[in-house]
Amino acid sequence: MGENATPRAAGDGDIGRRTVLCGAGVIGAAALAGCASGGEEKSAQELKGKEIAKAADVPVGGGKIYGDEKIVVTQPAQGTFKAFTAVCTHQGCTVGSVKQGLINCPCHGSEFKITDGSVAKGPADEPLREYPVQVKNGGIVVT
Ligand code: FES
Repeated sequence: MGENATPRAAGDGDIGRRTVLCGAGVIGAAALAGCASGGEEKSAQELKGKEIAKAADVPVGGGKIYGDEKIVVTQPAQGTFKAFTAVCTHQGCTVGSVKQGLINCPCHGSEFKITDGSVAKGPADEPLREYPVQVKNGGIVVT
């Protein structure tokens, strides 16, 4: 309990690898076009007003990853919710799990804090981008 061990983990890995290829192929126009249609992180503007999670689905002291939306929602303390991009700032993999207060990237082992998305362990050196959220009627909504 408290972890995001869903059967979709393998699929998320595939998405991660594809994203890595996108990052490496920035100099290739064809690769870049492929990236544009892939699962890049969403802007706060795109998500504004949307319910991205149910508060009840997010464990206290942990979090839940929404791979399709590229969002990770955490609850560092009871009733305090945070949302971040699930796209790792190192090379663009989708983060894979939330454990012991950390959001973990499966590609090269970067870890980010659930409290503010900051880097707890590299190789990533930039924090996960945070989305402003509030709880409305039991849902986590981007503001
Ligand atoms: Fe996440 Fe490298 S892409 S650690």
